[in-house]
Amino acid sequence: MLYSAECNKECMPINRDYRTSWHVVGTHNGHDVWSPSREPGKIHGTTVGVHFESCIGCLKCIEVCPTNVFERMRLDSALVVDPMRESECILCLACEMVCPVEAIAVVSSGGSDKTLDSLLSFPDDLT
Ligand code: F3S
Ligand code: ZN
Repeated sequence: MLYSAECNKECMPINRDYRTSWHVVGTHNGHDVWSPSREPGKIHGTTVGVHFESCIGCLKCIEVCPTNVFERMRLDSALVVDPMRESECILCLACEMVCPVEAIAVVSSGGSDKTLDSLLSFPDDLT
């Protein structure tokens, strides 16, 4: 469980294994929508996954993405980002790095997920 000053709900980080442990339950804006079998929750996108229940709509990913992958959208009354143009992603990982609640998981282009995780985790004194 992740708590953030910018998050007024209990934010769960995205499940980075969702592509193997969750199921595609539909499509939206040309990308897949994933859900776990027994729990609520939705992740939009396969190349670029956004966990809607975690997203706080800060829009930092929109600011940093060099290829304009994301589009803001309303989910009920909340603002979230949708990876509407995930096919444009160049795997730069900027969105993962700026997301304050770990709501985004970009598919690994090389190396292991452990390598990626270690690259994305900064020592406390550097954050
Ligand atoms: Fe954009 Fe993130 Fe891909 S910043 S280019 S969606 S890795
Ligand atoms: Zn979507």
